[in-house]
Amino acid sequence: MAIVGIDRRFELYAALDVGCWLQSVLLLATSQGVATCAQASLSLFPDIARSILGIPDDVKILFGIGLGYEDTSARANDCRTTRQPLEANVRFLR
Ligand SMILES: Cc1cc2nc3c(=O)[nH]c(=O)nc-3n(C[C@H](O)[C@H](O)[C@H](O)COP(=O)(O)O)c2cc1C
Repeated sequence: MAIVGIDRRFELYAALDVGCWLQSVLLLATSQGVATCAQASLSLFPDIARSILGIPDDVKILFGIGLGYEDTSARANDCRTTRQPLEANVRFLR
């Protein structure tokens, strides 16, 4: 498990940079056969991670990344999400 945080002195735009970095990490892990699951819900309960890992208050916890080798026999790992077609989320103006 990785816990990803950001120095509170940086504001919203730096979180966008972290999001770009996150995608690279997820793609790299996948390319190496390591499964991932990003978990922003972890940021709703920061005190637990803070106390166990000694993360200071000046770091805002953004999300966690679960990393590991997929257990293909576990039913939970059969879950596959679907994707909407491009047109459902992108409007092209000509
Ligand atoms: C930054 C980020 C944070 C996420 N946080 C959560 C979360 O807190 N809880 C959750 O159920 N899914 C969360 N997700 C979605 C899952 O990580 C995952 O993308 C989703 O289960 C769909 O799997 P797939 O991307 O392999 O289709 C998050 C995704 C991203 C990119």
